[in-house]
Formats: sequence, structure tokens, C-alpha cells
Amino acid sequence: MACVLFLQGCAGWQSALDPKGPAANELAWLIWFFTALCALIWVLVMIALAAPLLMRPRAPSEPLVLNAGAEHRKLRVVLIAVAMTVSVVVGLTLLSFFANRTLAAIGSGAALTIRVTGHQWWWEVRYEDATPNRILTTANEIHIPAGEPVRLLLTSTDVIHSFWVPSLSGKLDLIPGRINVLDIKADKPGVYRGQCAEFCGAQHANMGTFIIAEPRARFDAWWNDQLRPARSPASGEAKTGEDLFLHRPCVMCHRIGGTPAGGTVAPDLTHIASRRTLAAGTLTMSRGNLAAWIADPQGVKPGAHMPVMELNGDELNAIVAYLEGLK
Ligand code: CUA
Repeated sequence: MACVLFLQGCAGWQSALDPKGPAANELAWLIWFFTALCALIWVLVMIALAAPLLMRPRAPSEPLVLNAGAEHRKLRVVLIAVAMTVSVVVGLTLLSFFANRTLAAIGSGAALTIRVTGHQWWWEVRYEDATPNRILTTANEIHIPAGEPVRLLLTSTDVIHSFWVPSLSGKLDLIPGRINVLDIKADKPGVYRGQCAEFCGAQHANMGTFIIAEPRARFDAWWNDQLRPARSPASGEAKTGEDLFLHRPCVMCHRIGGTPAGGTVAPDLTHIASRRTLAAGTLTMSRGNLAAWIADPQGVKPGAHMPVMELNGDELNAIVAYLEGLK
């Protein structure tokens, strides 16, 4: 029972022991093999240690006699143990090497390249395309086609972050001025949670991401949808919200496609309401949470670079009405 409960802790959408793609499979296999082999060696060493202790002790009156034959046998046992230790270390190193080669081969033929840029504390996600007007920038949630290899180009604008979606791949750092390549593939459609895995400041723990793997047709439809400019406000209140947004400092940091708002230092909000979460996985997407985030970003995520705006209740409601329409 305890074992079942223990193993259930290893399942879920953010577990390296619950692999959902070839890279994570390879790593999970390695983890289990290393663990099993090391456990076996530990048990054997404990037995070898305990056996002499349990043997009949030499009586104090018995003289200590040196026996050349017995000494020779002991030396041979020590040499065999050293040889086994070396071969285990070399064997495990070779296994790691071949696993790395398998990981490197996953991305061969990847048709989709996504540039993921780490910021304190959110992820900028840019879908590359040979046709410039198909390049898409969004934030925090990465949609990919299921069953296809995808190449991620990882970089950062400020400090070192680390991209880790445990059920799909190992972790890899995002380093300013450098591009690291990580290939991922999700076997089946699903939502896989990821987390920044390198301490990057106060809100490191609130730097989550989601990989949303979908069948190819749905992924293509999503991409086309995201390329569209933002929806026009559907109500008078939302229209007021749009005007407020465009005349406040919001536009200095955020972009909303189809409007003059063109900031690029914070997440693109063109289709913000189509995302599942706010502030890089900190809050679920809802009208209440949008209002909470705008009214008190420092209360929700202390240290975040989102400043507090001077807004009265009606103004806050109007901006939220506008943003929640940006599906
Ligand atoms: Cu970004 Cu930790």
C-alpha cells in the first residue's frame, strides 16, 4: 500500500518518472536502471560487510597465524572487486553516452522551430517561419503538434534560466547571448507542465510553462487563429477598457496585435484570454484573477516587473472586460 502511494507521487503532468515522449522515456529508463543497479550493489556490499561480523570471532587465546595461501585469496577478492567497480563505472558512462546520442537524434527532421526566451519571470515563445508574416509571438504556453519532433532554441535576455518539462525531456539552460538547442516530442496529445529549473531570482518558483500537444490539424488551426489581430471590443465597457489600455503605460511593455500597443518587454497580450494561466502559471485564467493581477501584481508575484497602475474600480473593470475578450 505504502509502495503504491509512493509510486503515485511519481505520476502526473510534471514528473520525469511519467514519461510521455521519447526523450523522457530514455531518461526514465536510465534513472530506473541506475537506481536498480546501485541498489543491488549496495545490498551486496552490505552483505559482504555483515558476513565477517556474524562469523565466529577468533578466541582471544588463539594465536594469530599468517597463512600465505589465505592472504593470496583475499588479495584476489580485492582485485576482482576493484575490476567490477571499474567496469560498472565505465558501463554506466557508456550507457549515458548512448542515451545522449538517442536524445540528439530525436530532433532530426524537425519541421517546427520555436525560439523560447527566458525573462524574469516568464517565457517568450516565438514560432519561426520562412514566411515573415507567419512568425508568431506568444508567451508561457507552447503549443506543439503531437507525434512530431520540435526544435526549441533556448536563450535568455537577463539571467540564466533552465527549461524543464520533465515528462517530455531533460532540462537545458537558457543563457544570455547563447542559443541552446533542445529537441522534444510528445507521443500523444496532452498538457505537460514545465518549470524553470535554475534559480533566477525572487519569482523563480513562479516561472511555470505548459506544453500543449495537439493533433496536427488542431495545432495548425491554433497557429492561424493566433496570427489574427486582436478581437475588437464586444461591449461598451470593453471599448472603454481598450481606450484606457492604449492611453496608459501598458502599451510601453505589452503588444496587442492590430492596435498601436507594441511593447515587447512583457508578454504579448493579443490572445491572452486564450491562455490557461496568467503570470507564467501563477494564476488560472479568469476575470477575477485578471483583475487581481492588474490591481496588485506585487501582491500576487512580489518582485515581478509588472508595475502597479493607478486605476479606479470602473477603470479596472473596463480593462479586464477588454482583456478577457482577447481570445
Ligand atoms: Cu527562471 Cu528560475
